[in-house]
Amino acid sequence: MKVLLTGAGGQLGQALIASAPEGIELVATSRQQLDLADSAACSGAVEQHQPDWVLNAGAYTAVDKAESEPELAHAVNAGAPEAFARALDQQGGRLLQISTDFVFNGTQGTPYQPEQTRDPLGVYGASKAAGEAAVQTIFGAGGRGLILRTSWVIGPVGKNFALTMLRLHHERDQLGVVADQVGCPTSTLNLAQACWQTLQIAGDRELPAVMHWSDAGAASWYDVAVAVGQIGADLGIIDTPAAVQPITTADYPTPAERPAYSLLDCTSTRAALDLNGEHWQQALRAVLQQAKTP
Ligand SMILES: NC(=O)c1ccc[n+]([C@@H]2O[C@H](COP(=O)([O-])OP(=O)(O)OC[C@H]3O[C@@H](n4cnc5c(N)ncnc54)[C@H](OP(=O)(O)O)[C@@H]3O)[C@@H](O)[C@H]2O)c1
Repeated sequence: MKVLLTGAGGQLGQALIASAPEGIELVATSRQQLDLADSAACSGAVEQHQPDWVLNAGAYTAVDKAESEPELAHAVNAGAPEAFARALDQQGGRLLQISTDFVFNGTQGTPYQPEQTRDPLGVYGASKAAGEAAVQTIFGAGGRGLILRTSWVIGPVGKNFALTMLRLHHERDQLGVVADQVGCPTSTLNLAQACWQTLQIAGDRELPAVMHWSDAGAASWYDVAVAVGQIGADLGIIDTPAAVQPITTADYPTPAERPAYSLLDCTSTRAALDLNGEHWQQALRAVLQQAKTP
């Protein structure tokens, strides 16, 4: 199976490369090899490599910066999946589009189901929602374009909340972290496994066109920050955790509005992929074990 991977330098991309199963011919592209803002380059890559799958893990992920760069965010997050879908639709091949909990507005207070209507709050969410919509429109109900939404992605490499908190626990005595946004962290190690399982299972049986994958449980950013300190100290990565104070979203204004509650219901996806969820604290421990340094 030949897989064209985008975002090879990102935190999910690196986990996918590290865990690629035997039998996968992986064409891993980073920004230098393939600019996702260039639709013609995306189509050209499909024509050149003729992949069985495009695994689109690359994205414009700077949620706050997207508010001032909407054209670029849309070009990368909507234009690239649209171009991949059109090229694959013409020449054969399938698309796994990685998407986000930020396609929802976060107001409902119960876990979001895969089939619920998108209603993003900010530019990043809107651009990812437009990418999803393009994939669905181009492929229709044929099952050749799959969307896998995830949330709060953390891994042992790259830029993410867990690694930032680990560094701050090392550097500071006190931290204030938002406690009124609820969701669930997702380890890149587990997310990569879900992606590869999707590609392997999709050859044998039909999978839901939209799937949800996060680690198990629920948390606020405050909960995650406290857990990072405890686990980091337990693993001997930091000496003493900082004291973490819960603060509100209003105390920490950001350019982009974030969903207050964006838990993804992963039940149907776990069943479809034959994968159990790992509690986010156990998954976080595995991530920090690999990260090793603050
Ligand atoms: N991070 C999260 O919390 C989160 C939550 C929900 C969903 N997701 C989704 O999960 C997927 C993986 O995210 P991640 O956490 O691995 O993000 P990441 O670490 O920020 O990686 C994104 C990758 O995309 C690349 N990229 C950005 N613009 C590009 C362009 N114009 N051309 C080519 N490559 C470009 C980046 O390249 P550079 O390294 O050169 O910048 C980076 O390697 C994305 O679809 C994201 O939307 C992420």
